[in-house]
Amino acid sequence: EPAPPATLVIFGGAGDLSRRLLTPALVNLTRDGLIGDDLAILVVSRGPDEGIQQQLAQHLDLADKATKAAWAKRCRKIAYFQGEFDDPATYEGLAKQLSGNVAFYFATAASFFGPIAQSLAKVGLLKETDGFRRVVVEKPFGHDLASARALNRVLLGVMEESQIFRIDHFLGKETVQNIMVARFGNAFLEAVWNARYIDHVEITAAETVDVGTRGAFYDATGALRDMVPNHLFQLLAMVGMEPPNSFDAEAVRNEKVKLLQAVRVPTPKEAKTDAVRGRYTGGTIDGKKVTSYLKAADVAKSSTTETYVALKLMVDSWRWAGVPFYLRTGKAMAARDTEIVIQFKPVALAMFRGADIAKIPPNKLVIQIQPNEGLDLHFNAKVPGPVVDTKEVCMAFRYADNFDLGHRTGYETLLYDVLIGDQALFQRADQVERGWEIVQPILNAWAKGGEPEDYKAGSEGPACADALMARDGRAWHPVV
Ligand code: BG6
Repeated sequence: EPAPPATLVIFGGAGDLSRRLLTPALVNLTRDGLIGDDLAILVVSRGPDEGIQQQLAQHLDLADKATKAAWAKRCRKIAYFQGEFDDPATYEGLAKQLSGNVAFYFATAASFFGPIAQSLAKVGLLKETDGFRRVVVEKPFGHDLASARALNRVLLGVMEESQIFRIDHFLGKETVQNIMVARFGNAFLEAVWNARYIDHVEITAAETVDVGTRGAFYDATGALRDMVPNHLFQLLAMVGMEPPNSFDAEAVRNEKVKLLQAVRVPTPKEAKTDAVRGRYTGGTIDGKKVTSYLKAADVAKSSTTETYVALKLMVDSWRWAGVPFYLRTGKAMAARDTEIVIQFKPVALAMFRGADIAKIPPNKLVIQIQPNEGLDLHFNAKVPGPVVDTKEVCMAFRYADNFDLGHRTGYETLLYDVLIGDQALFQRADQVERGWEIVQPILNAWAKGGEPEDYKAGSEGPACADALMARDGRAWHPVV
């Protein structure tokens, strides 16, 4: 069903996010008939219009006929508005021009999120008198617990929670949404989804990209802030939450928050022992030379920013008591691989001739988020022959073999949901704050000093991450 008529106002709409992700998503939605001519797009940007249509077409595959046709339709509905984000005249101008349903997308530097919201409120643009007024807030939502709380206070001071759509683009990924279908659409899985059968859970987001041109942002941020309280905690919540009563936004969000509330906030001592950090040095990835993080553009010579983090969290709930969740993410690693590994407990008794428990690996379910999207069940089978011997084999489901994934960016679903007013895939204020609450002791511990441990670009990460697992008699599932 097509989204209702509206204007999508994109602050910072000439920028990188808009070119790389939002425009291709809007074109896909146009192609699929989910937005029509009655969705107008207004790009708000500081500089003069230097051919916005052309700029936004930069990442489109115009050789594809359907994309080309959709873009021809879409580009007629894109207008430009020049204005500074901190100039009251910008908002007075917008107020004159806008009416009916409006969604404001904040694709600017994070320091503008609060001020833009307040300026919109000042000219009455957030009042829902002649249509909906919604605000989409990009990442990063805060820099720590205090700043996230402050931003929530500013936003909630000028609008209702129901008007706020806090983006976590991981929730736009099909494979992330599928976690709920895998769990709650398949009776056999949910039956074993608890501390009785599961030994531990690993959540990995390994990236091959290095810091690239993002030095200024990244050096002030680091791997923990950039990935953990947001993306990795979304995965944690999806895997760990109780079944919601329905697919309704509040029902789902209540369960996610409840799970995060059960995550034990590390004590200052645990923050030192259960979280480790790394920083890449020079190396080679896919045959290409990568220079060390400390030599990257806009990175301080004296930087102590981590490009890798691994941590162990415990979830104090009936379902998960005693089951550790190990999380790790890093840049400039050997392979791009985002996955969740559910490792089951070993069999109770090794009854096969000549076998011992060590030779019968525990079952693993690997939820492959990206790339190579799918689900892999690792289990044991008998090796044919007169001797009863076992071998680990894998039952693999690949999205690509079953569905046409197309060239979607993940922002299609999110933008469409904003327009139809479905908040299920967006973060509520309490969830964002709980995420920061959990990582804050680690930020505090690291702020006191110390340095990340070196790992070679193109490796699987620093030795301290392996030690974190080895301490518990475990080892990471290899990044492939
Ligand atoms: C972003 C981070 O939010 O997510 C980036 O700022 C990271 O540092 C990216 O590379 C990962 O997203 P994806 O979709 O490429 O896995």
